[in-house]
Amino acid sequence: MSKQEDIFKKVVSHAKEYGFIFPSSEVYDGLSAVYDYGQNGAELKNNIKQYWWKAMVQLNENIVGIDAAILMHPTVWKASGHVDAFNDPLIDNKDSKKRFRADVLIEDYCAKLEDKVQKEIEKAEKRFGETFDKNQFETTNPRVLEYREKQKNILSRMAKSLENENLADIKSLIEELEIADPDTGSKNWTDVRQFNLMFGTKLGASAENATEIYLRPETAQGIFVNFSNVQKTSRHKLPFGIAQIGKAFRNEIVARQFIFRMREFEQMEMQFFVPPGTELGFYEMWKEKRMNWHLALGLGAENYKFHNHEKLAHYANAAADIEFKFPFGFKELEGIHSRTDFDLSAHEKYSGRKFQYFDPEKNENYVPYVVETSIGLDRMFLAIFSHCLKDEILEDGSERTVLSLPPALAPVKAAILPLVKKDGLPEMAEKIFNDLKYDFNLIFEEKDSIGKRYRRQDAIGTPFCITIDHDSLADFSVTLRERDSMKQERVEISKLRNIIDEKTNFRNLLSRL
Ligand code: GAP
Repeated sequence: MSKQEDIFKKVVSHAKEYGFIFPSSEVYDGLSAVYDYGQNGAELKNNIKQYWWKAMVQLNENIVGIDAAILMHPTVWKASGHVDAFNDPLIDNKDSKKRFRADVLIEDYCAKLEDKVQKEIEKAEKRFGETFDKNQFETTNPRVLEYREKQKNILSRMAKSLENENLADIKSLIEELEIADPDTGSKNWTDVRQFNLMFGTKLGASAENATEIYLRPETAQGIFVNFSNVQKTSRHKLPFGIAQIGKAFRNEIVARQFIFRMREFEQMEMQFFVPPGTELGFYEMWKEKRMNWHLALGLGAENYKFHNHEKLAHYANAAADIEFKFPFGFKELEGIHSRTDFDLSAHEKYSGRKFQYFDPEKNENYVPYVVETSIGLDRMFLAIFSHCLKDEILEDGSERTVLSLPPALAPVKAAILPLVKKDGLPEMAEKIFNDLKYDFNLIFEEKDSIGKRYRRQDAIGTPFCITIDHDSLADFSVTLRERDSMKQERVEISKLRNIIDEKTNFRNLLSRL
């Protein structure tokens, strides 16, 4: 098993062991690519939501938030293009009876070529030592150039064939590259077919009268169809934005990598409505703002990069992803898209209603253009969780596992720990708990040695542990232990609230934006 796989396995097992994420319906062997958030996961997820909502709605006078229904009129999905074009190319292996995304098989093949490039670089680095010039090696080494050229050709042929709906060529490509079922090695493939990712369901009491509807595959359409309602009732002038957090559903063919690609997930989306012709300026502005939102968490700038789309969807005139370095490499975390007036115009056409804005400065009506920011909440959870999970070797040679979450996002802000279960210490600890509980999410723990209790709090990312000992009864002070430095200091009980607040409140995080 590679080091990356090892790290990822640890992430999945830690998430389960410490009450962050459980497989859905586990007692029935689970439901593929559907997960439940446990007691700590729900808190962390809520805190990520709060960070996003506050950054969008609270800090921007011209952004408001809504909460639209998951079920929508089926024509919404006709207008948005999801009925006709929300497809993935799938292929089945005739021997193993397993189903794959054809494009992912090809992308994985290219990723292996890139692994070979990295191995060449590592070998050369060892051979040349300090004199090694990585840039020169990458631009001149014949084997590296050959691998990279091959990747480029394969990916551009695939993109062209997908665009032209030439699924026969996708199959030819898989055969020419001799791509095999990764589990069984079989190369016995069916033809490639398109598969619509929307989950259908029925609305209505009887089979004859039931209407076929869909679970929404993105939250954005709930914003678009409410554009006029919100604009008129909020009386915002352009530019203004509508934000929303909510569930989305996609029947992903191959749902892999834990909560990275799920069938039921949550999105945090914001549509920014702007006058036509100004959209590219706002697109750049939102790219920068969204990157700053990520960087403010302090996970390290080297873990993020932009991937600008060269091939654009037919409705977009600019698009980029913010990619994050997950344990399995750089992958899309968030999308920023300049969607022109495609969605609002489509809803005008299909609904027969006006989706126009009267611009008092220009004295004219027009359909606004839209810049969208769209991030998967679960993917953001995975980015933070996997980055912050660390095994540390301490000075005395012992080991600890710590989840060094940004304090404002930590599920529990402080643990209240009476040193022993007698002599009035639990009673005093309870008093402290009852006093602080109005401001912070706390844990009260009196079982096990103090060392074990510290380790348990490290593992769920609690920034502070407060230990009440016999001296506390006399001097009204406690031992305050900080998670990352493990430093312990004696602190007066009356000062606890301010110390915890200073470190864990959202103000610190938000003021970095
Ligand atoms: N409204 C635009 C839209 O939905 P998208 O690129 O399909 O665009 C946006 O999705 C974000 O939603 C992605 O960047 C990703 O973070 C998240 N996302 C998409 N599909 C997902 C899935 N199956 N599981 C988890 N997150 C997903």
